[in-house]
Amino acid sequence: MSEVLTAVDAGVLTITINREDKKNALTNDMYTALADALEAAVDNSDVRVVVVQGSERVFSAGNDLGDFQNTPAEAGLSRPVFRFLHTLAVFPKPLVAAVCGPAVGIGTTMLLHCDLVYAGTNAKLSLPFVNLGLCPEAASSLLLPKVVGHARAAELLMLGEPFSPQLAYEAGLVNAVLEPDEVLPKAQETAAKLAAKPAKSLRVTKELLRPEVLRQQILERIDDEAQTFSAMLHEPAAREAFAAFMEKRRPDFSGM
Ligand code: COA
Repeated sequence: MSEVLTAVDAGVLTITINREDKKNALTNDMYTALADALEAAVDNSDVRVVVVQGSERVFSAGNDLGDFQNTPAEAGLSRPVFRFLHTLAVFPKPLVAAVCGPAVGIGTTMLLHCDLVYAGTNAKLSLPFVNLGLCPEAASSLLLPKVVGHARAAELLMLGEPFSPQLAYEAGLVNAVLEPDEVLPKAQETAAKLAAKPAKSLRVTKELLRPEVLRQQILERIDDEAQTFSAMLHEPAAREAFAAFMEKRRPDFSGM
């Protein structure tokens, strides 16, 4: 079965990340499928709202670490993840996310580009870029401090420890924390409400919330971070972190 499922019903496109045996870790092919689905939705008048979800148990363990290990040095900004992020960052229709279980790395940073986010009590968010010898991505270095303030952004990005949905709620990253079995239905219920509203009003409201000047800043920051991130993928700290994950051991950053 496909690892990214799409279904349109009554104006709502639901995109389901569907690779649960690998905790919904995102591969290059999956980013391509996600970008394709979003791009196709932009001009499809049958789609008025988009829901992005995993399952009741897992949202996404972030980028596939095997793909990180195998990324050629020359790949740079041509990696499909950046097409996905560009599409997501300026997507003109309401985006609703349903987040249960792990939401690691891009599993959390993509939420900064969603409009409404519902999290399960079992959600476990984290931004472990530093712990992987990497740096922030998805314009999180710009957007996270705007949402949660510098001190908390520094804590989440520098320590990279998992944080609770309650903290995410209090910090303004999610709209509500619900029982896991209520999260996907709540996202659908909200999407249905949005789908019944005038599409132009929603589009204009979204443009005003994220005006052109901010959108440009976000796209530039995605690219700036991506340059550094792509180079750091090939440096010793990241190589050690990936190898440690594959070998199911703690990384050893001594001397790095
Ligand atoms: N990339 C590739 N494979 C991944 C993965 C990832 N990001 N996350 C999980 N997997 C795989 C595991 O290797 C394992 O595969 P296996 O069954 O073949 O051994 C399977 O998914 C289940 O993962 P596991 O670690 O056993 O599940 P868990 O419930 O104990 O822990 C996580 C879940 C998400 C906390 C943990 O898997 C994790 O930390 N993953 C890495 C997250 C990460 O660093 N992402 C990159 C962010 S930039």
